[in-house]
Amino acid sequence: MPKHAGGALLGILDLDRSSRLPLFRQLDNQIRQAILSSRLPLGTRLPSSRALARDLGVSRLTVVNAFQQLIAEGFLEAKRGAGSFVASGLPGSVPLIPADPAAGLQTVERQASRLSRRGKGLADCADRSTPGSSPFSPNQPAYEEFPFAKWSRLWSRCWRRPAMDLLNYGDPLGYQPLRREIALYLADARGVRCEASQVIIVSGAQKAVGLAAMVLLDPGDSVWMEDPGYVTMHELMRAQGVRVVAVPVDQEGLDVKCGVAMAPAARMAVVTPSRQYPLGVLMSLPRRLELLEWAQTNQAWIIEDDYDSEFRFTGRPLAAMQSLDRAGRVIYVGTFSKVLFPSLRIGYLVVPADLVDATRMACQVIEKAAPTIPQAVLAEFMAEGHFATHIRRMRSIYRERHDLFMDASRRHLAGLLEVHATDSGMNVIGWLERGIGDLQAQVRARADGIVTNRMSYYYFDAPPRSGLHLGFCNTPPAEIGRHVQKLGEGLESLTARD
Ligand SMILES: Cc1ncc(COP(=O)(O)O)c(C=O)c1O
Repeated sequence: MPKHAGGALLGILDLDRSSRLPLFRQLDNQIRQAILSSRLPLGTRLPSSRALARDLGVSRLTVVNAFQQLIAEGFLEAKRGAGSFVASGLPGSVPLIPADPAAGLQTVERQASRLSRRGKGLADCADRSTPGSSPFSPNQPAYEEFPFAKWSRLWSRCWRRPAMDLLNYGDPLGYQPLRREIALYLADARGVRCEASQVIIVSGAQKAVGLAAMVLLDPGDSVWMEDPGYVTMHELMRAQGVRVVAVPVDQEGLDVKCGVAMAPAARMAVVTPSRQYPLGVLMSLPRRLELLEWAQTNQAWIIEDDYDSEFRFTGRPLAAMQSLDRAGRVIYVGTFSKVLFPSLRIGYLVVPADLVDATRMACQVIEKAAPTIPQAVLAEFMAEGHFATHIRRMRSIYRERHDLFMDASRRHLAGLLEVHATDSGMNVIGWLERGIGDLQAQVRARADGIVTNRMSYYYFDAPPRSGLHLGFCNTPPAEIGRHVQKLGEGLESLTARD
């Protein structure tokens, strides 16, 4: 005698009339879940469509539609004259998903128990940054100033007369014309000494660093990372199973002597010498030479993350550290995320010639190749000179925004936030005054629609001072004053409360 679902089914079903999902869809989803979780055992007889419709207060057609769907999928079977049953031919009685929604796939505890150690490490990652661009978000370009018309013209041209090869898997090392353009650009703008064959294109700087770590490090190796530093990169390294050694940064950049004292046998140092992230310090020449010598003596690697060097407002930028490397120990990493836009997901690394083959195989195994069409469009964008024009233009736009930001800070933030002007990059630091905590300040600013980062976020331990990291590039000039004023009012309200 088959069990009758009757009231049990009603206890399981919970239809939401405000949902955009039609009622029959909700119904078939919920019955399907109940079968998969064994809450409706195999062979159970369901109430008639008429009775169920009445009990649920829905039309009979709703129930009939849901039953028909489940019959078509094989979850239910209809027996002439006897009604609808949970199909008895489903595999075993093992629940396919947990019966208790509270212990469902979504809960953190359940996830954790299903993950590898590496997966758990990633799930616990400290990088809680969310994509989005609000006034003063760090690292955000002025999207509205992107040369959309030029880009779309190149994009259409690429599709109108496509070389058929563009649709096949690309070269694992990247689209050759783009590698050539990047090599030329780097030689000219950054003093990087390389052939196009050493330029490897991947989907962003993050990927580039991960790739280098995969090729050059073993689990358990120690890696010097800047403290404070770019949190996502720290997490990336941890995910590779390496030991992250937090080396302090001073006015000359990463303190090499400290690094040696903390982990003399480190295999790699990851640095941002052109503009330390987030402090904005330029690594001095003596420090660069000291780091290079350490790497050479210890057969260690240096990752030079040159993420936003294009934006220097006065004078020429200092050449990349790679240009000083005589021993082939520097892996230079660049990205188009700041200079163009992050969703393009194109970055690159320049590796010493003897690492090209191993890196090619790593690229091949990991992702075959980065998407080719955007690379082809970008190669044209560079070859036609639009890239150089764009950098020049953005430099002057960002400089203007920086100056407006500083003017407004003097007016609205005096005594609350000591903002330091910069001659490069996309962000400034404001040190909080009057005992305001940076978490408090961040939360308050967020309530006013201003999404900044607190400086403590970037430090491994307690920061020396409370501060905010503020991007000045993504806020149109006419809005800068208003938002700085709002920020000031928010900070003022925090002091009034104390
Ligand atoms: C210091 C630093 N390095 C690397 C990156 C990552 O760049 P990508 O978007 O190319 O992965 C960022 C992005 O904000 C960054 O700030």
